This record gives sequence, C-alpha cells and structure tokens, in this order.
Amino acid sequence: MAGTDLPADLLIDVDHVGIAVRDLDAAVDEYRRAFGAEPVHRERVEDQGVEEVLFGVGTSFIQLLGATAPDTPVGRFLERRGEGVHHVGYRVRDLASALDMLRGAGVSLIDQSPRPGSRGTMVAFAHPKSFRGVLVELVQEG
Ligand code: CO
Repeated sequence: MAGTDLPADLLIDVDHVGIAVRDLDAAVDEYRRAFGAEPVHRERVEDQGVEEVLFGVGTSFIQLLGATAPDTPVGRFLERRGEGVHHVGYRVRDLASALDMLRGAGVSLIDQSPRPGSRGTMVAFAHPKSFRGVLVELVQEG
C-alpha cells in the first residue's frame, strides 16, 4: 500500500492463532485426530490464566487455549462469546520498537511494555478495538 509508514519487516510471520476451548483435552484429541498431528508443546501460563497446547503449522502454531478459572480473560471470553478464535499472534523481530510504532500510530495497547509469554517468548497485547474486533498479540522469540 502506498504511503504506509510501517516497515515491511515489522511483522515477520503469523506466530499463532489462539482458539479458546472449554475442554482442552477433548479439543487436543479432536485436532490430533483431524490433522493426524501430535501437539508440540503444552504449558500453563499462570499470569495469563491459561493452559495452552500448540500444534505446528510450518513455522507457526495453532494454539488451543483453556482457561485455568472462570474469572480469567479466556474464561470470560468463553462465557461471553463461546468457543472460537480468541486472538492472532504476530511474530516481530523487535517487540519494544514494534510497540513504539503501534503507540505512534494511535493503537490502543493492553500491554505498554513486553512481558513473558509461553515458550520463553516476550509478548504484548493490543486492544481489539484497534484491529476490527480482533485481539492482537505481538510475539518476539526468546
Ligand atoms: Co497467544
């Protein structure tokens, strides 16, 4: 697009698509059977109130997300919207400068600075109201 001031390499890949599910083990079984694939990672991220399971897709992942309790962001999402796509995680080279750029573009940030994600990554979330209703996560690999 002409006139954009985003450098072409701000986003280097889709890191993962996060899918909120009510029963994580049942969802993992369904994905495993449907795609004939084994999960590559499972992790409980206490400060986000989630337990996640990753399936590899090229260099990206499908991330199945279960809530650790009803009163968590994913728990509230499930209550309000039901199961389905919860967020899209974009991989960036430099999370701090990506956040500066989004801030400069007037994007509403949930996280003002990077925080630890799963797999040793650093992450930050931006508000769905800035991205047409989609919760956006930026991910920098560790
Ligand atoms: Co995520």
